[in-house]
Amino acid sequence: MADVGTRKRVLSGIQPTHDSFHLGNYLGALKQWVALQESHDAFYCVVDLHALTVGPDPIELRRRTLASAAQLIAIGIDPAKSTLFVQSHVPAHNQLAWIMECLTGFGEAGRMTQFKDKSAKSGTDRTVVGLFTYPILQAADILLYQADQVPVGEDQRQHIELTRDLGQRFNSKYGQTFTIPEGYILKSGAKINDLQDPTSKMSKSAASQSGVIELMDAPEINMKKIKGAMTDTEREVIFDEKNKAGISNLLTIYSAITGLSIADAQNEFVGKGYGDFKSAVATVVVDFLTPIRAKAQELLQDPAHLTSILRDGAEKANLVASKTLAETYEALGLLPRA
Ligand code: TYM
Repeated sequence: MADVGTRKRVLSGIQPTHDSFHLGNYLGALKQWVALQESHDAFYCVVDLHALTVGPDPIELRRRTLASAAQLIAIGIDPAKSTLFVQSHVPAHNQLAWIMECLTGFGEAGRMTQFKDKSAKSGTDRTVVGLFTYPILQAADILLYQADQVPVGEDQRQHIELTRDLGQRFNSKYGQTFTIPEGYILKSGAKINDLQDPTSKMSKSAASQSGVIELMDAPEINMKKIKGAMTDTEREVIFDEKNKAGISNLLTIYSAITGLSIADAQNEFVGKGYGDFKSAVATVVVDFLTPIRAKAQELLQDPAHLTSILRDGAEKANLVASKTLAETYEALGLLPRA
């Protein structure tokens, strides 16, 4: 393992909006978080402030924030290797977000496709301003830690681009202050689709949960969902995203979990029907998730242990974040407090 001082830094975040993360979160992003902590100086946060944009119930938010930390540890985030913390525990996130808001064009923020999609669904009167500024807070999360890389799914590409633009804009206006990060987005697995609607991404906010594989669901439920995945009327297990979206999505999942290439995964099912294929996918997914669920449940039995991990994480995160914030204030010409 390289020395902390010479290792590149990664930062990423996940929202505590639900009781469970889903397989898309895991394969698109979290799996890379685990791998990168071996080679990088890793900062991972549960972005509870971002979750406020959906107006969560306070009791649920608190429970889900802790459940998120438990799941992250259960999938393999090691608090001895990674700095694991809760976004609201480090006030510099909001402080830098304001500064970044003052550098972001109104039209620029309005062009963010996630904002456009969500606000189009609920209408402007029911869309909160926090949803509009969401990507700017995300940029602050990343820039504060001088992150080199940001492991995320494909849907976050535009937000990383905005982060880069804001970092570069600040640096050229006020002098070199921020590292310009790059997205760490996989070629395969960066977009896992809904099992019942295989041309749309698997999402916590899907109207029906029947196509969403939750990490914390019972094995029987996930088994049933995968065996009932929407496919086409043909017979061959072939990767063809355009004509066989359901089968291709299942092949992506199978290959990401087993570590086989898509071609090798496909070869395994030559001459076999969709039924055998779906059973095989269901078995590898369920076998993989069962110990993760058990570990997360075990961790949740001891909330004091989890909160102490998060307290240590916040302390480490705060050291890095407050240094960047102080440099930013200085560069901007804000008068130092005597
Ligand atoms: P969130 O909680 O919506 O998603 C967490 C991560 O899961 C990825 N993801 C997917 N990947 C593949 N297939 C899918 N179906 C799928 N659904 C979700 C997301 O791309 C994400 O990486 N805006 C961020 C949260 C955030 C953040 C940050 C990320 C806030 N601050 C700073 C990185 C750095 C988000 O989408 O969270």
